[in-house]
Amino acid sequence: MTSSTRDAVVQVNTGQKNDTMAVGPAAALRANWFPDRTASKSAKSTTTLPARAAVLLVPIRSLGSNHRGRICRHLVSLSARDRYLRFGYSAKDQHIEQYVAGLDFERDEVFGIFDRSLLLIAVAHLAYAMGDICDTGAEFGVSVLEPARGRGYGARLFERAAMHSTNKGVERIFIQALSENQPMLNIATKAGASIRRHGSESEAFLQLPVASLGSRLSEFLEDHVGQVDYRLKARKQRIPSFSANLGETDHRNEAVVLD
Ligand SMILES: CC(C)(COP(=O)(O)OP(=O)(O)OC[C@H]1O[C@@H](n2cnc3c(N)ncnc32)[C@H](O)[C@@H]1OP(=O)(O)O)[C@@H](O)C(=O)NCCC(=O)NCCS
Repeated sequence: MTSSTRDAVVQVNTGQKNDTMAVGPAAALRANWFPDRTASKSAKSTTTLPARAAVLLVPIRSLGSNHRGRICRHLVSLSARDRYLRFGYSAKDQHIEQYVAGLDFERDEVFGIFDRSLLLIAVAHLAYAMGDICDTGAEFGVSVLEPARGRGYGARLFERAAMHSTNKGVERIFIQALSENQPMLNIATKAGASIRRHGSESEAFLQLPVASLGSRLSEFLEDHVGQVDYRLKARKQRIPSFSANLGETDHRNEAVVLD
């Protein structure tokens, strides 16, 4: 952790005790990002900061191909109902395995939130449409493990994905969800997306602002926070005495891959 990130220590909301991290500059910049967006974009952009997301600082990490196993375990652990909501059909284990094997980490972006034992409690996939991304959009899909829901993680991942898309020059982000999926539609609506309902299915479109210095700095710092958080949690797992002193589960046998 660099000295520039030591100026403030806040409670990081991962649903776990003692998850604190120095996040001053990142938090301040992130809080400014959404207001910047509404000020600097065309009249089409009506995005506002979701109230709860405004006060949460959740370390979000960009995932790579070395995380395929954890992503697969996360998705397979979803209930049948959640798989239906996430994929739009009753995905079996083998469908999920094929989906994870086909993730293109070069073209797309996958974000994750880890708990203290590096369990992947939330995963978001931002899939870019083929072709010139500046003229097209990106599709957002997300899942949060049931015990971790209602804490704003879904909203934060959407905000993070929107920030990343903005910085890549993407013009709009969209979500395909079942019309009965009120939590997902709440996230989209609160972020300023317009919703089109087609019977049992709905589409949400969020027009993105142009990138700014603020959006780029925010993403840089958020990325840094996510990396540092992950490394700290991985280090705790690799130093048994550290975990034992905290009365935590001993995860010595769990492989930790850092990239
Ligand atoms: C959709 C999902 C990602 C939301 O995750 P989350 O971390 O709980 O989301 P948040 O905490 O940011 O809450 C989102 C909104 O949904 C609301 N919500 C949560 N559970 C709800 C429920 N059972 N009924 C209605 N609204 C609900 C929250 O209150 C919040 O709205 P608010 O800000 O107005 O209070 C999660 O429910 C999930 O993984 N579902 C299964 C997969 C899925 O549906 N994916 C989306 C399709 S791409």
